[in-house]
Amino acid sequence: MVPCYFKPSLLLQLIICVGCHNVGVAMATPNGLVVPNIKKVQSLSILEITKELSRLQQMASNNKLNSEDITGGTITISNIGAIGGKFGSPLLNLPEVAIIAIGRIQKLPRFDDDETVYPASVTNVTIGADHRVVDGATVARFCNEWKLLVEKPELLLLHMR
Ligand SMILES: *[C@@H]1O[C@H](CO)[C@@H](O)[C@H](O)[C@H]1NC(C)=O
Repeated sequence: MVPCYFKPSLLLQLIICVGCHNVGVAMATPNGLVVPNIKKVQSLSILEITKELSRLQQMASNNKLNSEDITGGTITISNIGAIGGKFGSPLLNLPEVAIIAIGRIQKLPRFDDDETVYPASVTNVTIGADHRVVDGATVARFCNEWKLLVEKPELLLLHMR
């Protein structure tokens, strides 16, 4: 999905498409829920993302996030599973145009190709998107691609820079 957000304006809704993925992460803190974002995720390594995530978590729990940290996001990920949620209907974190809610992972029985039962780690992923910008087919393709990468992380390595 092309990273975009709405430019806040009183009369016109302008859509701004940006060249970078700034991924917001919803964080529950003692002061309430905050959504700082990790800038330019597409050019960071997993270690760099982890480092930035820890910095943001630290800042959030100390109520020290600055305006740069909480603006400019293009999509939000909300890990509702971390607080026990199974399924959500995420509402857009405006002016962003998409949000993803990930439920908790549960071990559930599944069948393999030979119809043998095996334990599988299963989670619900719900994506909310503003259809003035991204249509349902784009969201479904994105979700399938993402599912494939989560199930086969070795494919993710092939895409990394
Ligand atoms: C996924 O969501 C459905 C509908 O709320 C729920 O019944 C199911 O238990 C959830 N599955 C998991 C793995 O959380």
